[in-house]
Amino acid sequence: MRLIDINEKHPLKHINYFLNSQHEYIMTALYPGYFVSFEGIDGAGKSTHIPAFSQLMRELHPSLEVVETREPGGTSLGEKLRSLLLDVPMNLETEALLMFAARREHIAQVIEPALLAGKIVISDRFTDASFAYQGGGRGLNLDKLNALERWVQGREDGVLLQPNLTILFDLPGVVAQERRSKVRAPDKFEKMDLAFFEKVRQEYLRRAKEDPQRFHVVDATQTPEVIWQDLQSLNISMP
Ligand code: TYD
Repeated sequence: MRLIDINEKHPLKHINYFLNSQHEYIMTALYPGYFVSFEGIDGAGKSTHIPAFSQLMRELHPSLEVVETREPGGTSLGEKLRSLLLDVPMNLETEALLMFAARREHIAQVIEPALLAGKIVISDRFTDASFAYQGGGRGLNLDKLNALERWVQGREDGVLLQPNLTILFDLPGVVAQERRSKVRAPDKFEKMDLAFFEKVRQEYLRRAKEDPQRFHVVDATQTPEVIWQDLQSLNISMP
């Protein structure tokens, strides 16, 4: 494994990438585990595929434990914060700080120990959601989000803990809205208007463009069958 420094190319400072045997750049090669996050605007369909993807990982890596988790949440404190975050209207900075507080607890209690123990962690959302919803959607200054990301995910050696792979379900806001209206009663975020979701989507796409080695973007207008074929063909290589 070769350590290369790409600080010159990456907007976030002090990030070291490693090159794995497939010559992919991966960030958490310091851990024996593997970290996958699923992202997308509400109604894009990620929840349909996460359980099947977790099962696929169990079949492909029978000796490894798969940990399925979610954000906001994933710990008992995080789940309490989740119910506040999804129900109670609040100041934008407060909302971002609580999202990242829940994330810090999630990393400390669940994600980092699992990665150190060589497990596969699959999280329904992670930090890209804060950039998309609090940043893109609600307009929080990206400098503040970058600072929170570095604070909460930065390790003592300066490496930022990030997913090895982020699967982004991309869908126009109007299609997602139509899908959502058929399924369930909306939470605080799901009640937002179309313009909000378009901004969320654009920020997700900006993050994906900024870090193409980490992101796999799925065209979520396709049928679930076609999407599942695509997910099955992903080459997940353990560090
Ligand atoms: P979601 O993951 O869609 O769960 P469910 O399928 O049960 O509704 O809901 C979580 C909501 O929280 C979603 O609307 C996005 C929002 N969210 C943020 O605004 N910022 C964040 O950092 C995270 C993790 C989620």
